[in-house]
Amino acid sequence: MAGRSLRVSLAGFRLENPLLLASGIVGVTVPSLIRALDSGAGGAISKSIGLEPREGYRNPTLVASDAGLLNAVGLSNPGARVFSEELATVRGKRLPVIVSIFGGGPVEFGRVTELLDNNDFLAYELNLSCPHVEGVGTEIGHDPAVVASVVRAVREKTKKPIFAKLSANTHRMVEVAKAAIDSGANGLTAINTMRAMTIEVETRRPTLTHKFGGLSGAAIRPIAVARIYELYENFRVPIIGCGGVSTWEHAVEMFLAGASAIEVGTALYGGYAVFDGINAGIREYMARKRYSRVQEMVGLGHKL
Ligand SMILES: Cc1cc2nc3c(=O)[nH]c(=O)nc-3n(C[C@H](O)[C@H](O)[C@H](O)COP(=O)(O)O)c2cc1C
Repeated sequence: MAGRSLRVSLAGFRLENPLLLASGIVGVTVPSLIRALDSGAGGAISKSIGLEPREGYRNPTLVASDAGLLNAVGLSNPGARVFSEELATVRGKRLPVIVSIFGGGPVEFGRVTELLDNNDFLAYELNLSCPHVEGVGTEIGHDPAVVASVVRAVREKTKKPIFAKLSANTHRMVEVAKAAIDSGANGLTAINTMRAMTIEVETRRPTLTHKFGGLSGAAIRPIAVARIYELYENFRVPIIGCGGVSTWEHAVEMFLAGASAIEVGTALYGGYAVFDGINAGIREYMARKRYSRVQEMVGLGHKL
């Protein structure tokens, strides 16, 4: 299959293949990102990093549901200063890492960017969409005016590409995406988890300590596909697809909807082999359909 490349270009940088480790899935350290890269991911996105260290919520923070996983981890992270020191240890290694950041508003987002920006990484992903942390999640990501001010604040502090990670918990997603792009975002990630809850019938209480959580995995994939499709119809910036991808068919489906790269999250709990498995399937599909580059498939679901 020589000549068939899985390489993709996104907003000025290249990945050896289109699969990325999604934010928050396997710990908050740089070695956990390297493990995903060594296992076949073309890139890895860090846990969302905020200004100050956060412990997150008490257990249970993760519960299995019929067709997915419900989590309310609470954005636990070591804070931007400590994470910056960690990133400094791999300076010069040119790792394909994207740093996810969050904050309570434009000032905090700007400050986090300032603290991290001196390090070597490919791009930022702005977490504008956590459905279960008050004050830093959807309160920001559902309001186009706030999103505009946040993206502008980050843009002022960096020359690196910015991806806005969007929430599908709002009917205003396209408006939010437009505000992000008009304010300097170079690309979009769709989607984050969907706000959800389970209740235990014996105790009669919500299962998660935080009550509300974010649903990920198979259950949200068709929602993600629809959102990617909608964004592709409206914008010409690169879209990173995310939500419930565990097979090569799922990845190809997102390419056809308009994604140029794919994040894998929940499926990773089934083992790191998922990256190589999906990449092999994409390569075989490309051979069968006679595509020589991933980009040839992007958005085809709109044309045929
Ligand atoms: C345990 C857990 C922690 C997560 N933490 C973050 C986070 O810190 N920042 C973020 O943007 N998304 C976070 N997410 C969302 C994922 O990055 C991804 O958007 C979501 O899980 C959907 O993809 P999936 O179905 O492939 O898991 C988290 C998801 C899970 C399951």
